[in-house]
Amino acid sequence: METQTETTNTVRRNRRIIFFPLPYQGHINPMLQLANLLYSKGFSITILHTNFNKPKTSNYPHFTFKFILDNDPHDGRYSNLPLHGMGAFNRVFVFNEDGADELRHELELLMLASKEDDEHVSCLITDALWHFTQSVADSLSLPRLVLRTSSLFSFLIYASIPLLDDRGYLSLSDNTMALILDGLGYHDLSDNKRLEEQVEEFPMLKVKDIVKMGFKREKDGAGGMIDNMVKQTKTSSGIIWNSFKELEESELETIRRDIPAPSFPIPFAKHFTASSSSLLEHDRSFFPWLDQQPPKSVVYVSFGSVAQVEEKHFMEMVHGLVDSKQLFLWVVRPGFVSGSTWLEPLPDGFPGERGRIVKWAPQQEVLGHEAIGAFWTHGGWNSTLESVCEGVPMICSPFWGDQPLDARYVSDVWKVGVYLENGWKREEITGAIRRVMTDEEMRERARVLKQKLDVSLMKGGSSYESVESLVAYVSSF
Ligand code: UDX
Repeated sequence: METQTETTNTVRRNRRIIFFPLPYQGHINPMLQLANLLYSKGFSITILHTNFNKPKTSNYPHFTFKFILDNDPHDGRYSNLPLHGMGAFNRVFVFNEDGADELRHELELLMLASKEDDEHVSCLITDALWHFTQSVADSLSLPRLVLRTSSLFSFLIYASIPLLDDRGYLSLSDNTMALILDGLGYHDLSDNKRLEEQVEEFPMLKVKDIVKMGFKREKDGAGGMIDNMVKQTKTSSGIIWNSFKELEESELETIRRDIPAPSFPIPFAKHFTASSSSLLEHDRSFFPWLDQQPPKSVVYVSFGSVAQVEEKHFMEMVHGLVDSKQLFLWVVRPGFVSGSTWLEPLPDGFPGERGRIVKWAPQQEVLGHEAIGAFWTHGGWNSTLESVCEGVPMICSPFWGDQPLDARYVSDVWKVGVYLENGWKREEITGAIRRVMTDEEMRERARVLKQKLDVSLMKGGSSYESVESLVAYVSSF
């Protein structure tokens, strides 16, 4: 990881880059890691951000922050939107729809101020889901690069949503989503052969992976946003991926063949940790306990910043963990269990001596701890990649979006984990935990993948070169 000394000794370039992250933890982390990386290469950094979910600016004294889009607390378009859960995501629709004029105005001001400071604004880097920013950047002749915070393969699958719809997979979701989200996962659907079939266009996927993404082909809503995201990513000046070549080699080839804009896969977690952009306070109180546990003996359990479970599923998790008889460290965010503030549904005496429960943890540091033997995750892309970075095998319980795709790659393509694809059933949870904790071949594959990643970061390696070419490219504007 780059040290602070290296960062401060770097020659400054008189060039500024403006970043605009999507205001959710899984998107803020990689964007600020990228901003730190480009700062370490000599660029000045301005971060545009909403007031909603604003990161702790005092952790970034070397950046300039500017808050936009939701400065008016009385604006009814977003002031009544939920602050947590999936409803909080609706802001993205509002800002994509109405944000162009304000963003253009802010960018004009920043470009003017930079000129006065004898500094050049090289480009704008926005989250791919801020699709409205492409036309704004075009109108100012400002190059826009995209940060896609998920995998390359999920981008290719998202880009094929119209095709998948033509095949009938998405209308399947109308009938089956409710069942999948409700009840015990796929339990009621096990007879439905179609869901188990291979997807012709993406042979590594099963039809149920597509269904579980939960998208529809539509003009509005999530499907419409994905469609716009794909279009405006393809027309951008460049795409930065939180990934590395050796992980997604054929997908990178396809993207480089089909999209004229250059692609730069960079595994951010290997450059900077995400801890300084955490929106929640990290609990570190369990470290003395973790330090005392034998190597590779503890299951780390965490489901990211958004996912929620019903109480009956939470109880299956509890029993699955208890019956596995493994040590565990479990992150249960307040609100993770629908209808509960935190841990009310837990039985007396749980977790006992076998485990620790915390509200939020410094995840990368935990995954890098020698006591951690497996990661039970929802398969969010940051979590998946952070686990790959530390060589930790996974148990995946995906919820929606890219997560079921990530889970399929973890289990069937890279073979560094198990996909709990039949929902929340205590026996299957117990079996998966035991398998991942004891399968030495799987652990070895996870170690080899990490090794490939480490090699890619060395001088001449693919990730090293990716950073170098990104810096050269951005400097050329
Ligand atoms: C969301 C989507 O769910 C995910 O599928 C998409 O790829 C990105 O946006 P999220 O659900 O929060 O993200 O999951 P994830 O991508 O894994 O990001 C969570 C981040 O929070 C990680 O960087 C992780 O290190 C951090 N984290 C998580 C903590 O710092 N502490 C914790 O206790 C748990």
